[in-house]
Amino acid sequence: MAIILDGKKLRDKIFEDLKAKLDNMPVKPTLAVILAGDEPSSRIYVNNKKKCAEKLGINSIVIEYPAHVTEEELLNKIQELNNDKNITAILVQLPLPEHIDKFKIIDAISPGKDVDGLTTYNSGKLFSGEKPYVYPCTPKGILLLLDEYDIKLEGKHAVVIGRSNLVGKPVAQMLLQRNATVTMCHSHTKNLSDIIKTADIIISAVGKNVVGEKNIIKSDCVIVDVGIFRDESGKVRGDVDFEALSKTAAYISPVPGGVGPMTIASLMLNTVELHK
Ligand code: GUN
Repeated sequence: MAIILDGKKLRDKIFEDLKAKLDNMPVKPTLAVILAGDEPSSRIYVNNKKKCAEKLGINSIVIEYPAHVTEEELLNKIQELNNDKNITAILVQLPLPEHIDKFKIIDAISPGKDVDGLTTYNSGKLFSGEKPYVYPCTPKGILLLLDEYDIKLEGKHAVVIGRSNLVGKPVAQMLLQRNATVTMCHSHTKNLSDIIKTADIIISAVGKNVVGEKNIIKSDCVIVDVGIFRDESGKVRGDVDFEALSKTAAYISPVPGGVGPMTIASLMLNTVELHK
């Protein structure tokens, strides 16, 4: 049976340390979150971020806009937050309504307040091997989780499934910097199962079931499941068939309770880092 990569346990440990640090800060950081539109899951994520921040002693404000918000309104608000010295960190919850150019909006955030590490400045730093102000939350959380379990990355074959800007692309860069050999897979990849067979580490961030009981994996394989969605019966599940693969992998992260809590832990860590 695989060892469970317990994101909740590590999140709690990180929160305990952060809380102690924040208790000693005379001026607390402030996280501003912009939520545009009425995507129900985004609302849940944003509420969760706000609750966590407040529990730790981070000030948190949520600025909400209806789905018909204009780019100009969002750009004006971001400019105002950039110029406000009481605001430490800015997060624009994704996805944005379809008529909004998300790249333009994200790039309006001051790089030193870009808590997601998604601006061209910060992602450029990451991709050129320099230090960004902060690393994107989910990839940072994944690496913290692997480090917690002492999983070595150097020389390992890491197979990343999914090429999003939020997870796939940045986690691949971070793994490269840790000297892993990285294969990027996506919806057009041929023979995914042949590639999976050779993986020392699988990181799947797709949002649908892509790794199942038919997949043959190495007995020392580490599986990190980033996907989260509801199946036809309404059950929350990940990209990986946990039942089947937890019998054959060496390590596996559950959904929920694996990467999700680590994303939020990283967001809180990034907010405090930007405060310095
Ligand atoms: N939507 C889903 N995950 C994320 C995230 O990590 N950051 C932002 N800004 N939006 C998201």
